[in-house]
Amino acid sequence: MSTEPEAPAPTPADGPPAGPSRRTFIATTSAVGGAVIAGGAIGGGLLAASDEADAAPAAPASRVSLTVNGTRHTVTVDNRTSLLDLLREHLDLTGAKKGCDAGACGACTVLIDGHRQNACLTLAVRLEGAKVTTIEGLADGDQLHPLQQAFIDEDAFQCGYCTPGQIVSGYGCIQEGHTGSPEEIREWMSGNLCRCGCYVKIVRAVEQAADRQK
Ligand code: FES
Ligand code: FES
Repeated sequence: MSTEPEAPAPTPADGPPAGPSRRTFIATTSAVGGAVIAGGAIGGGLLAASDEADAAPAAPASRVSLTVNGTRHTVTVDNRTSLLDLLREHLDLTGAKKGCDAGACGACTVLIDGHRQNACLTLAVRLEGAKVTTIEGLADGDQLHPLQQAFIDEDAFQCGYCTPGQIVSGYGCIQEGHTGSPEEIREWMSGNLCRCGCYVKIVRAVEQAADRQK
């Protein structure tokens, strides 16, 4: 019974093993992988996206009629449209600002049937027959509303981004009779944030306008 000698284990001195090297392996897989990705994007991904777009059902839309600053409007909007987007995107009334779009800052404050509301949290399609007042509706032609004038007199803004919401909210605050003291004004204006920190002057402006209205 003959036995053949076992092949000796390779040593570093024997050089690299036959077959693909690490470098050629990486180059090959990169090229193949790239081709797969490119093929997916060109042949599959984009076509799939376009198929999906074709297949996507139209978003439900509704017609709504409402009065904004004394003018009646009838518009057809996606049911998910907020009052803020209706004002800004459909009616070109950009005075109400989009700060947080989540009910936290008050930059979008408007009056709906006389009550202060965050327009970003209000669905437009729920406002059939409503009367909306925005910052654009407070002045009487070239004559500023007393509260707008008071904001100027008291220098109650810096960047001005929160100002339309502050003024509409201050108007509501005065109408509601919550202006008995600076503390009361602060409390009832607390939903309106000012990142520039003009609170002291904003409260003074509301006080001034409330005094003039007495
Ligand atoms: Fe509506 Fe901030 S944008 S509360
Ligand atoms: Fe700048 Fe109020 S004035 S956020």
